[in-house]
Amino acid sequence: MAAFERDFAAYCETGFAAGVGNGTDALWLCLLALGVGPGDEVITVPSTFIATAEAISFCGAQPVFVDIDERTYTMDPGLLERAITPRTRAIIPVHLFGQMADMDPILEIARRHRLPVVEDACQAHGALYKGRRAGSLGVAGCFSFYPGKNLGALGEAGAVVTNDAELDGRIKVLRDHGQTRKYYHSRIGWNGRMDGIQAAALRVKLKRLEAANSRRGANARIYDELLGGCEEVVTPWAAPHNRHIYHVYAVRVRERDRVLESLAGKGISCAIHYPVPLHLQEAYQGLGRGEGSFPVSEQCAREFLSLPMYPELGADQIQAVARELKACVSEPADEMHALKVCEAR
Ligand SMILES: Cc1ncc(COP(=O)(O)O)c(C=O)c1O
Repeated sequence: MAAFERDFAAYCETGFAAGVGNGTDALWLCLLALGVGPGDEVITVPSTFIATAEAISFCGAQPVFVDIDERTYTMDPGLLERAITPRTRAIIPVHLFGQMADMDPILEIARRHRLPVVEDACQAHGALYKGRRAGSLGVAGCFSFYPGKNLGALGEAGAVVTNDAELDGRIKVLRDHGQTRKYYHSRIGWNGRMDGIQAAALRVKLKRLEAANSRRGANARIYDELLGGCEEVVTPWAAPHNRHIYHVYAVRVRERDRVLESLAGKGISCAIHYPVPLHLQEAYQGLGRGEGSFPVSEQCAREFLSLPMYPELGADQIQAVARELKACVSEPADEMHALKVCEAR
C-alpha cells in the first residue's frame, strides 16, 4: 500500500496519500481528523452522490447545502459565504463528473473565515484547475477507486491526499484502529485501511490513467461536436481553465425519463447522476429543506442524462448514440405537430 500511496501522492502533486477502504471512508476519516464532530456544520452541495453528506452526518455534524452553478454543475461560489455560520467547520466542494469546482473564490472565502476546504475528488482523478491537480488545492482531497471510476480498483478502495503531514498522520492512525504502534491505541479509530491487493492493482492502473483520461476527453469532443448544434440538448461546459476528465458525460434534456427509456429500447443504456438531489432524499428530510430550496440542483436532477462514456468507446458508437439521441429529443415536437394537425381537422 505504501508504494501506491507514494505514487498517487506524486501524481496528485501532494506530499502525502493515505490509502483507505473507499471514498466514503476517505471523506469521513478526513473530517474526523480535522476535528469535525457533533454540533458542527459542514457546507457542501446537494447535487452529488450521497456519500459526501453521509461522511458529514457520520461525524455527528450537519450538512449545509449551497446550490451549484448552472454551467459547471459544481458549488456556486457566489452562494457560499451566506451559508457560513459560527458552527461551520469545513467546506466540501465536489468536483462533479470530472470537472473541478471554481476553487479560487472558494479558497478565498474559506481563508477569510479560517475554514478548511476538503475536495471531494471522487470523480476527478487527474482533473486540473488552472494547471493544478484535483486534491492538491484544499487542505485535503478525497478519492474513490470504486471500479467504475477513471482510476478504478478491482473492488472498493479510496485515498486522502494532502500536503499536511500532521493531518496525514492523524488519518493513518484513525484508519488503523487508532493505533500508533501495534496494539497501542491512542484514540478510537476504525478498520479503514486500503486492501493491499487493491493497492497493487491501482499502482499498475495509475500508469495508464493519463492516456485513459485523454481518450475520454477526445470522446467528449466528438459528442460536443455532434450534439453542439442540437437545441434540445445541453452539452457539458468545461471552464477554459479546467481540464475536465469526463468521468461522466452528462447532457441535459427535457423529458429526460422518456428519452432514457427510448434510448434503452434502442440498446443504448444511459444513466442518471443523480435523480434526487440530497436535500429531497428521504434520509435528509430532517434538514427541512423542501422543493425549491436549491433550484439549479433540482432542475439538473430532472434533466441530467449520462451518455455512455469510457476510454474504449469508438467514434462510430458515439455517432450512433448522438444520432439516436437527436432523433429522440425531436420526437415530442413531431407528436405536438401531429396533434395540432389532428385538432385543426
Ligand atoms: C462524488 C462522490 N463522493 C463520494 C463517493 C464515495 O466513494 P465510494 O463509493 O468509494 O465510497 C463517490 C463514489 O461514487 C462519489 O462519486
